This record gives sequence, structure tokens and C-alpha cells, in this order.
Amino acid sequence: MFRAMATLWIALALSIGTASAQPVLVDTAIDVTTEIPPAPTHHLGREIAQTMHYTGAPWLVRESRQREEDCRLLLQALEIDAGQTVCDLGCGNGFYTLELARMVGPEGVVYAVDIQPEMLRMLAARAGDERLANIRPLVGTPIDPRLPEGEIDLVLCVDVYHEFSHPEQMLARIRRSLAPGGRLVLAEFRGEDPAVPIKPLHKMTKAQVRAELEPAGFALVREFDRLPWQHLLFFGAENGDSDAP
Ligand SMILES: C[S@@+](CC[C@H](N)C(=O)[O-])C[C@H]1O[C@@H](n2cnc3c(N)ncnc32)[C@H](O)[C@@H]1O
Repeated sequence: MFRAMATLWIALALSIGTASAQPVLVDTAIDVTTEIPPAPTHHLGREIAQTMHYTGAPWLVRESRQREEDCRLLLQALEIDAGQTVCDLGCGNGFYTLELARMVGPEGVVYAVDIQPEMLRMLAARAGDERLANIRPLVGTPIDPRLPEGEIDLVLCVDVYHEFSHPEQMLARIRRSLAPGGRLVLAEFRGEDPAVPIKPLHKMTKAQVRAELEPAGFALVREFDRLPWQHLLFFGAENGDSDAP
């Protein structure tokens, strides 16, 4: 468990993309005094994958991604309504964030969370260029996405969960962040399918995802099986209650 030591907060708001049409602020107000426990190498029998480094960000916006992963179908399957509050958790350079921002519209909000500020700087520049004012980029820590409690209608993690260095702490925080009826949606490359051309450590089986989320107080409420490479699994807080276990 992590331990808050003092109340020294660093509140830095970096103004990014000053040449952009609309500057987007990255909230970096991490409590640097919070102790992060050592990361386990395995979680419930699964080896935890290393975080994708920000220098690999061009791969996330590669031209072939739509064809390979059918990202538009993934977005449609989320059934997001205008005005909702959603989170792109582990957003990287914002491939999905920008689309989510258009889907929720000016009355909605997209929290874009990543542990690598460099990813968020790239995201903020793109959001500014596209004049998207409803995105809130947040630097998270490996144990805390820093989301408001009880407000998020949908938390989306695309190719992210298997990289969480501290899955238990992250799941507890995500659960607390959900609004009543809110959903956590995981897209993970299918570990059962050898034809999916992704390294095994970056894939997960459906059984493994359930084995990790159910003890954390989540229940599988919906599955979407029509993506070419990924599982798309929708979880609700068990008993409809979003309090942390
Ligand atoms: C493979 S990338 C996926 C990016 C994005 N979801 C996409 O599909 O384009 C994984 C991202 O998750 C981020 N990440 C890993 N652990 C995280 C954590 N505990 N909290 C927030 N972001 C995390 C990494 O920094 C990286 O940017």
C-alpha cells in the first residue's frame, strides 16, 4: 500500500502547444511525496509487461491501425452519448482521446490520463490544433489515475491494462472513479489467438482478464467480439456500487 508522507504538492500546469489554435493544459499536479511501492513482476500468474516508451508513439498513430484493429468499430461499440464524462486511461499520444472528445461533444468531458508527460504533450498539441476544448490531460502515477470520484461514465483502457505495474491499486482507484452504472472497458489483444501478431506479453486471454478484475470488485457485463485482434470487455462495479473494495 502506498503512504502519503506529507502535504507537499507541486502544482505545475504546463502550457503546451502555444503555437496551436487553442492551448491545452496538462495537469501535472502529482503528490511527489506519495511513496510508490515496488512493482511486482507478476500478478495472479501473469507476467506484467513493460510500459511502452513514448518514443514509440508514432506506432500508435500508424496509417495501418484502422485496417488492423478496426478502431472505428471499437469506438462505435462503446455506445457513448453526447454529454458524458469519459476517461481515456493510458491515452498515449491521444489516438482515441481526440475521437472520444468529438463523441461526447462540447457538453461532455474526456479525462486523458497517462504516466508519461511526454505522451500528454503530444496529445495536447494535437488537441489544440483541432480546437478540442473538452479534453483534460492528467499525469497519473502508477498507483493513481487522479480521477474525480464517482463521476466517470466510462473508463477506456486500450492496450493498457496489461502494462499496469500496480494493477490492484489502479483497479481500486478506477472503481472509485465510476459514476453509478459506470463502465470500465478493456481492449486487449487476444491471448488465445496465435494469429494476432503481437508479442505474447502484450496479449491477454479473456479468462485472465476476468481472473484479475473479478476479485477487484468488477463484473463482466458485456462483451464485443467483432474486433479483428482485440477483446473488448465491459465491466461494471459489482452490485452496481462504485465504492472501492
Ligand atoms: C500501448 S500504449 C496505448 C496508448 C493508447 N491507449 C492507444 O491505444 O493509442 C500504453 C500507454 O499506457 C500508459 N500507461 C501504462 N501504465 C499506466 C498507468 N498506470 N496509468 C496511466 N497510463 C499508463 C503508457 O504510458 C502508454 O502511453
